[in-house]
Amino acid sequence: MGKDAVRILGVSGSPRKGGNTDALLDRAAISARSAGASMELVHLRDYVIQPCVGCEQCRKDLTCTRFYDGMHLLYPKIEQAKGLVLGSPTHHYNVTAWVKAFIDRLYPYYEFSRQRPGPWRSRLSGQGRVAVTFEVCEQCDPSESSFTLAALRKPLEALGYETLAEISVLGHFRKAAVREDPAALERVSSAMKRMAGEIGL
Ligand SMILES: Cc1cc2nc3c(=O)[nH]c(=O)nc-3n(C[C@H](O)[C@H](O)[C@H](O)COP(=O)(O)O)c2cc1C
Repeated sequence: MGKDAVRILGVSGSPRKGGNTDALLDRAAISARSAGASMELVHLRDYVIQPCVGCEQCRKDLTCTRFYDGMHLLYPKIEQAKGLVLGSPTHHYNVTAWVKAFIDRLYPYYEFSRQRPGPWRSRLSGQGRVAVTFEVCEQCDPSESSFTLAALRKPLEALGYETLAEISVLGHFRKAAVREDPAALERVSSAMKRMAGEIGL
């Protein structure tokens, strides 16, 4: 990998520009870069991403040939970056529609046996890939964010990422209010220092 290759990809799943998810991701990038890692940020709202339609054509083509949309700009970034930071606001106890579409469109990375149902593996696995995930929601009771972190963790693990840290940031509604939450910012910073160490600089 070249000296200038992006080692960490940060992905915001919020439709709100400059909101809490973006603010946490900005902090993640500052911390990663100060630890010497290169980190690129993408905001899913800036990309057109069709939801997966389950056509299974990617079994044969090894990429999505049903839609030529923003995912084809993101696939190379995902493949190149060993670290993935994925943040989502909670929308109705779960990840946002943007995050769900993004995750489902990673389906081309799976290889399945001829026989279905049957064994499967991810072509991203076994490469030392690591992830940090975070959720941000308005309510203070953890039951109000509910499935959000699990909805990030399960697919990323299936795809071949080891989750180094998952961060729950509760109690923020106002746009970018999380910038005044030093404890949340510190949890993101320390997760990023760990990620920078894990991916080797
Ligand atoms: C459609 C929608 C659904 C939401 N559902 C929840 C929810 O289930 N639980 C919760 O605590 N907050 C919920 N919220 C509030 C957001 O999670 C909260 O405002 C968060 O800070 C937004 O993050 P952002 O600024 O990164 O977009 C919802 C907001 C929207 C717009």
